[in-house]
Amino acid sequence: MLKNTSIEISEKNNLKEKIQKLCKEKNAVIMAHYYQPNDIQDIAHFVGDSLALAQWAKQTNADIIVVCGVHFMGETAKILSPGKKVLIPDLNAGCSLADSCPADKFEEFIRQYPGYKVISYVNTTAAVKALTDICVTSTNARKIVEQFPSDAKLIFGPDKNLGDYINSTTGRKMILWNGACHVHEQFSLEKILELKAQYPDALVLAHPECKKPVLMVADFIGSTQALLNYATQSEKRRFIIVTESGVIHEMKKKNPGKEFIPAPPIDSSCGCSECNFMRLNTMEKLYNCLLNEQPEILIDETLRRKAEKSILQMLEMS
Ligand code: 13P
Ligand code: SF4
Repeated sequence: MLKNTSIEISEKNNLKEKIQKLCKEKNAVIMAHYYQPNDIQDIAHFVGDSLALAQWAKQTNADIIVVCGVHFMGETAKILSPGKKVLIPDLNAGCSLADSCPADKFEEFIRQYPGYKVISYVNTTAAVKALTDICVTSTNARKIVEQFPSDAKLIFGPDKNLGDYINSTTGRKMILWNGACHVHEQFSLEKILELKAQYPDALVLAHPECKKPVLMVADFIGSTQALLNYATQSEKRRFIIVTESGVIHEMKKKNPGKEFIPAPPIDSSCGCSECNFMRLNTMEKLYNCLLNEQPEILIDETLRRKAEKSILQMLEMS
């Protein structure tokens, strides 16, 4: 048993070294979202939320960007860095929220509201971004919406929970597309309340993609990065984390003395809430993708240019 474990550790170290060597040889950078498996977060050159990944993708001097996240994050990197090769370890790493907003249906929806500005969460396909005036992430959504006049006619898509939360915090009445993330919608209010009763000293930190009843019991609501910052700055020692549990890895690294409890989903007893798309990426796939320079994210240039405007507008306003 002990022997097997040490073989596994040496294989893992081997793979890690091979990935690092390929990165040097090919001038490649690895960017990972906080929802990635721990070993991928540990080897990445940059770890961040969706806004930070977009900003880094625009700035890097690397020839190859490996986006360890989901497809729309790879697309965002490619849109902002068309001259670079953008790779993703598993092309099937999609997003239920992006899938809940097909471009043709979104276009029909927008047509019903002439004169409205279209704001889209970055969790969308390039085709939806091309229909969008300005993108937002959960980190900058409120700040950007508040830059519009209070009576501005706005459409917000695709996340109805985030849109509803921004409406309630800004007093806006944005028209919302009816989309959601299957991970954040799955958190169980009952189980969170049970945890709160069990640990009365714990603070509940929730992502705004969660449903309203869950947000109503949260002590703090924010993007992945905001939750991390809040937990780090807080004097409290225990937190119930209501977002994808991958972020707990960085929370623990930054706060070794604090306890982080993943909020449980409705229909699972495992106590963890992992995004099955995010978790498709593995160290083996990361290695193969660097070695073979595949799978690559490619976008039609006309579509890229249209989609780029809405992201650049976001970067300017964040
Ligand atoms: P942020 O990275 O903006 O917090 O978004 C969370 C998310 O669901 C990404 O897929
Ligand atoms: Fe998409 Fe939800 Fe997974 Fe984020 S957690 S990538 S929004 S499915």
